Amino acid sequence: MLSNNRSIKILEAAEKGRYGIVSVVCYNIEAILAVARAAEAQRSPAMILLFPWAIRYASSHLIAFAASVAHSASVPIALHLDHAASPEDIRFAADLGPERGFDSIMVDMSHYEKAENLRLTKELTTYCHERGIAVEAEPGRIEGGEDGLKGTEDLTGMMTTPEEVEEFVRTGIDFLAPAFGNVHGEYGPRGVQLEFDRLESIRQEARGRVRLVLHGTTAVPPETIQRCIEHGVSKINVNKLIARPYAELLREKGGKIPTTKFMEEATCVMQERIEWQMQVCGSVAKV
Ligand code: 13P
Repeated sequence: MLSNNRSIKILEAAEKGRYGIVSVVCYNIEAILAVARAAEAQRSPAMILLFPWAIRYASSHLIAFAASVAHSASVPIALHLDHAASPEDIRFAADLGPERGFDSIMVDMSHYEKAENLRLTKELTTYCHERGIAVEAEPGRIEGGEDGLKGTEDLTGMMTTPEEVEEFVRTGIDFLAPAFGNVHGEYGPRGVQLEFDRLESIRQEARGRVRLVLHGTTAVPPETIQRCIEHGVSKINVNKLIARPYAELLREKGGKIPTTKFMEEATCVMQERIEWQMQVCGSVAKV
């Protein structure tokens, strides 16, 4: 059932071609349209990411819109549910099926102790696979929190070990998001300090069985992102890259220009940033 899965196809091609797929957390229709327009303008594959917040906010409606935009684009675009931390959300999302909903889901059980994390990851991976949906998981725990992700801010980070990679690969997952010094949101005073030796040993341990995902990228310099891609990462998650310019534009122009004009300008501003990141990741003119 996974042989035609869009997320798998897009990331396998990226890993083989040594480029990264810009995977953008979207909160509204402007952002969703910005991803599709950027991808079509650059002839680049892409991924649209929603948080489970979207389910609580709009049931399946925002998801249906995102799936329609992603799946009718003239370049490959997959729809992915990011950081789904509750089994109920995952089952709801998986039951929509890949045509009306997600091509892949991040089964994020990293708030549980390891044995429970592995048990739930395995059970939910099977549930998703039976519905044609690919799965990402997070061994260890990536530090930091994000807008719309509840209860993650206070948890401490835990680096991924090579042993955990083997344990998680055995659950059947398709994509693995390691913690190797990367931080969601703000990196703080110590700045960006990624452990490339750890990333390389994770890649060696994975032995091509899963695609690698980089979380927490907005403050990461372009050359460091490119170095991650050289070390086998194929999915590059971004959030603040477009959330920040959107908020700045809202502060500057919200209520001062017609809403329709604001929405169009906001879409253009986000599209520009995404196109820039696609160039950094080397995914332009690949389709
Ligand atoms: P940033 O907020 O650093 O862009 O991280 C995005 C991310 O990892 C989403 O899962």
